[in-house]
Amino acid sequence: MAKKLEIKQLNIEHLSAVMELQKKVIDGLQKDEKHFVLTRSAQDFIKALEHENTYMLGVFDGDKLIAQSIFAYPQNGQERDIPEFAEDVPNAELVVYKAVLVDKDYRGCGLMRHMLDYIEQESKKFGKKTSIIQIAMDNPASWMSAMNNGMIICKVDHDPYDNAKVLYLKKNLHSGVVPSAKTGYKQFTMFVGSNIHQYIPALFNKMQHYVAQGYYGVGVDKKSHSLVWAKPDVQNNCTRPVTASVPSKTIHY
Ligand SMILES: CC(C)(COP(=O)(O)OP(=O)(O)OC[C@H]1O[C@@H](n2cnc3c(N)ncnc32)[C@H](O)[C@@H]1OP(=O)(O)O)[C@@H](O)C(=O)NCCC(=O)NCCS
Repeated sequence: MAKKLEIKQLNIEHLSAVMELQKKVIDGLQKDEKHFVLTRSAQDFIKALEHENTYMLGVFDGDKLIAQSIFAYPQNGQERDIPEFAEDVPNAELVVYKAVLVDKDYRGCGLMRHMLDYIEQESKKFGKKTSIIQIAMDNPASWMSAMNNGMIICKVDHDPYDNAKVLYLKKNLHSGVVPSAKTGYKQFTMFVGSNIHQYIPALFNKMQHYVAQGYYGVGVDKKSHSLVWAKPDVQNNCTRPVTASVPSKTIHY
């Protein structure tokens, strides 16, 4: 029988559970996956749990915290995470996703996507218009989850701080238009295979090339193991791609 999981905002009482989950997830990463997430100190989490423009969401199986994410609402004029991306969006309109972690025992049922869906609905109530995230290129579980939430790949680059290959994804939270030929976009699919890891270096180069040509990674075609790329068809007067918003769901595990 499916289990019901509870998703809710975390507070300072959850600090030890948050630290424990971070340790479990980071200890479980392979050597070549350690760059997927920054190890955060208790002090870092306290800021998020005490709501200094940063918040935390958690997923519980009974009393057990099994997934968590930090999200930030930067203020105008304030330094923010990922300053090299979405520079045209005022801070006050942004929600920035960070430190998404799912307990290994609970992976495979889309909890990251569910958390992003939930945060997105909350963020809209606070007038946020755009969500952003930066994800390591060799972490397809994470960027597929973000794409399942409707985020689109807008930039493919090296992280300016550690030079890692990274993807930058963004979502317009108030648009219901899906890029397609009907909505004025040219599009094509790019085969990524069922074992993405094998092709990471080549994929990164290809993705950089498509972004340089004005394309955005707008979706996943599971049947053909492909990513869908689209760009505004100038003859149709479109200026930028937008994505459908995805409604939150009850989570069954
Ligand atoms: C990234 C993470 C949060 C995702 O956990 P999750 O929500 O359980 O993700 P899932 O296992 O349900 O996978 C999500 C999607 O990625 C796909 N995916 C998972 N592993 C994959 C892989 N190795 N290659 C390609 N696709 C993969 C899944 O098929 C799924 O897509 P689908 O629903 O369309 O089939 C989790 O793997 C994690 O905690 N990793 C370690 C910490 C981390 O990397 N955090 C992200 C920092 S940005």
